[in-house]
Amino acid sequence: MTAPTPLIAGNWKMHGLAASLDEARAVAAALAGGVGAKATRVAICPAAPLISRMAQALAGSRVETGGQDCRAEASGAFTGDVAAEMLADAGATLVILGHSERRAGHGEDDALVAAKVGAALRAGLEPIICVGEALDQRESGHALSVVIGQVRGSLPAGLAGRPFSVAYEPVWAIGTGLTPTTPEIEEMHRAIRRVLGEMFGPAADRAPILYGGSVKPSNAAEILHAAEVGGALVGGASLKADDFLEIIRALG
Ligand code: 13P
Repeated sequence: MTAPTPLIAGNWKMHGLAASLDEARAVAAALAGGVGAKATRVAICPAAPLISRMAQALAGSRVETGGQDCRAEASGAFTGDVAAEMLADAGATLVILGHSERRAGHGEDDALVAAKVGAALRAGLEPIICVGEALDQRESGHALSVVIGQVRGSLPAGLAGRPFSVAYEPVWAIGTGLTPTTPEIEEMHRAIRRVLGEMFGPAADRAPILYGGSVKPSNAAEILHAAEVGGALVGGASLKADDFLEIIRALG
């Protein structure tokens, strides 16, 4: 089994203007100065208008740039939408897909997420595919079946042999300060790992399974050292370089 390369990715969501690039530059400078394990990959995923300038600001650094969504089609009359190839052309190397804020707020289902993953792969982007249960699904004992269903439905066969990651983000933990217990995180990540093996074979052992949902400096070490946690997808705490760096440091 090949251990996955850990990935800490910041999801800036709909935050950030040109002035915020200074935070990204500060992260890059600290990594260049020796902060964080050499093997850890770090990415920042800003809103689409900032991707090109982010990629330029981070050029030559260890910090990669990612998008937050893409359209499944390669081009066309889709006002306001962004194609995967456009993200790559702007300098992104990764893209977050199937985030719960897209699933809930834009009606994205597993089939659409899978189609977007296919588009990302055709554009040479590495997808970060998000899954996670809502609070009522956890409380009714359905968290595992919901998340496994999302993994099976949102990850197309074309991912076999390609670099990708899965982010487990319980919807009720996003932006709330709440997190699952460490055993709950480990149970879910082990289940996702098992299903990835069933779907893609041993090569999928290289795909990190990220945890997302209220990761912050104070809880990062415990979460990042839990079994089968291969990194984090960080929202609010990725907006400030100091907090994001503390999370990167917590991975060791
Ligand atoms: P928070 O870290 O702000 O809870 O957001 C998590 C998230 O949705 C990352 O994609």
